[in-house]
Amino acid sequence: MPSDAVGSSGGPFAFMIFGTTFYVITQAKHASEIDKNTEALSFDEFVQDFIRSAGLSESAVQACFLQRLAKEKSGFPNPSGHPLGILIRQMQVHQLHPGVYQRALEARFLRSFHRQLRVEHISHITQAQTSGPISMYKWCADFFTRAGEYAYFGNTLGDIDPDFSKKFYVFDELSWQITYRIPKLFAKKMSAAQNTLQRSLKTYFQIPQSQRDETAWFTTAVEDELRAIGVSDDDIATIFLTVYLTINTNTRRATFWMMAYILHSPSLVQALRNEIAQAFEGYDLVNPSYVFDKSLCPQLEAVWLETLRLSSSGSSVRCINKDTIIGGKILRKGNKIMIPSRLLHMDDTIYTEDSSLFRPERFLDTGNRVRGGWWRPFGGGKSICTGRYVAEHAIKMCVSIILHRFDVRLTDGAHLPQGDEGIPGLGIMGLKKGEDTWDNVSARSFDG
Ligand code: HEM
Repeated sequence: MPSDAVGSSGGPFAFMIFGTTFYVITQAKHASEIDKNTEALSFDEFVQDFIRSAGLSESAVQACFLQRLAKEKSGFPNPSGHPLGILIRQMQVHQLHPGVYQRALEARFLRSFHRQLRVEHISHITQAQTSGPISMYKWCADFFTRAGEYAYFGNTLGDIDPDFSKKFYVFDELSWQITYRIPKLFAKKMSAAQNTLQRSLKTYFQIPQSQRDETAWFTTAVEDELRAIGVSDDDIATIFLTVYLTINTNTRRATFWMMAYILHSPSLVQALRNEIAQAFEGYDLVNPSYVFDKSLCPQLEAVWLETLRLSSSGSSVRCINKDTIIGGKILRKGNKIMIPSRLLHMDDTIYTEDSSLFRPERFLDTGNRVRGGWWRPFGGGKSICTGRYVAEHAIKMCVSIILHRFDVRLTDGAHLPQGDEGIPGLGIMGLKKGEDTWDNVSARSFDG
């Protein structure tokens, strides 16, 4: 609840939580002012706060974020002499922005989707353990997390703990407790899952690189940089748990919401199948770039844009390093700014004809006009999500494979599930308690 209104007519308003004042931005033009103002408003402290709360030791925080590295060091080029924390962001960009490494990563996602999206692999998610309807939410979490894990860590992490992705699900559903620094006493379930995951990651990093399965470039390159400045195995495990989180948390949820919206708009299933058919040979997606192409698959693109518009509940957070004027209001140093994407996404003056409805046509009819600065599921400015290209491609691939390989039927009386708008986060909404949907999944038959 707003406790101290500092703005009116759409200006920022303020509220307080655990002693910190947050200013909330409600206008795209103010969000864009914040994106441009990287001197007074910073995302870095937020990242440091998060990783500290996740358990990174103070010595590792100092080594990673406060100590500048030599410009001429070996490893990843560092011509500006940045601390490793900044360099890791550049390494994320190197891995995730369009190029050779991004394509290699996406190929690994596709290999994993092909392997897992088979009827015989989903029986463990059924209600009755052996057969019957499956939980779409848990299914998406399961196959997506395994794919993200395989893409970054190969098969080795799964060999260490075959249930790593299941334990991650328990941790991830509660990981907002880290952001909001809920004392461990009240976050026992999350902490227990986190400890188990960190132990397995530590074991992973204690295995010599030459004995691990093939990984993403990023994983070994960042490990090498961390070892070069003396970061311990425990801290390496903590850092990579946050990497695992960024790869999987929003993506698994966005996949679920995309499937939920498609299944609840029955005419879309066939329309999308027709649109993507040419990308497949028999059972397999052989031409993924076909489904990424917005001119060849405009409906898939519109469903993607509309799904993210409706399912984003996250906020970009900025720390205020000096008093700053936004929207004519003074926002005071030491406090934080929140840009909740949901407020912008639900603006009826931009998303007309009822912004709360799933209407992918709005992106077909008006194209970029309804995006502008108002569509912000990936944040904006300097800290805009580096994984946005890979996220879009991986999700379009797995949704296409599901539509192509399976008939998914809703159980009788199923309604569109409700998201949990009450749980704070950085990205996509989880499910409200009791809203899990149980869908019947069967294989389609193919001539090819
Ligand atoms: C639908 C999927 C995703 C959504 C909605 C999403 C959303 C976001 C948001 C809202 C931010 C904060 C931006 C800001 O505050 O300005 C962020 C940051 C980030 N995301 Fe994503 N993300 C997704 C998938 C991914 C994936 C798959 C990866 C990596 C493989 C990734 C890597 C990152 C990283 C590294 C950052 C931090 C950027 C920085 O420090 O500057 N994200 N994401």
